[in-house]
Amino acid sequence: MNVYKTINKRHSYRGKYKSDTVPREDLITIMKAGLNAPSGCNKQTTSLIAVDDKDVLKKLHKVINPPVGETAPAIICVLTQRLPAYREKCFAVQDYSAAIENMLLAIVELGYQSCWYEGHITDEDKIGYQMAQILNVPDNFELVCFLPVGIAETEPTLPKKRTFEERAWFNAFPNNQNESVP
Ligand SMILES: Cc1cc2nc3c(=O)[nH]c(=O)nc-3n(C[C@H](O)[C@H](O)[C@H](O)COP(=O)(O)O)c2cc1C
Repeated sequence: MNVYKTINKRHSYRGKYKSDTVPREDLITIMKAGLNAPSGCNKQTTSLIAVDDKDVLKKLHKVINPPVGETAPAIICVLTQRLPAYREKCFAVQDYSAAIENMLLAIVELGYQSCWYEGHITDEDKIGYQMAQILNVPDNFELVCFLPVGIAETEPTLPKKRTFEERAWFNAFPNNQNESVP
């Protein structure tokens, strides 16, 4: 598949996964794709923990409430260090977002599905923090997202997206464009 096809094929998958294990080799390929993403001032603030051990997955899913991605045979947890990159500017969010997108594309390219679970684990209930505790993550790292990895049982549901013409232009912002975002 070429990269453009993979980009268009990627969608958030929230259905059930088949129980087939994900080979370590594939998990490493996916993680390397994430770590090869650009980072502000090359600070490389993103780190990753893949979990494919059933007992550890069970412990993690005990704290992921309401449950999401619980049937996936593996997950990749995304850790960040909120370090200054340029003067006082921190690019940690941009760094881990680039890493996540690279991994989502690698996941689809290898025939798996996933979903970017960040909102779900970074609310006041601090699920991400609880997951970090289970994984022995030191306090100077924050667990901000996890990606299930596995073979999907069904197809992802396609979300409604605004058209190209509503969101992208050449040379200037169009005069007649309503600026509000739905
Ligand atoms: C920063 C960020 C946080 C997200 N957090 C969640 C989440 O917690 N739960 C979820 O189901 N999807 C989450 N998503 C996935 C979005 O809902 C999804 O990308 C969006 O609806 C568009 O659908 P698509 O990925 O199929 O294009 C998140 C996406 C991003 C970029």
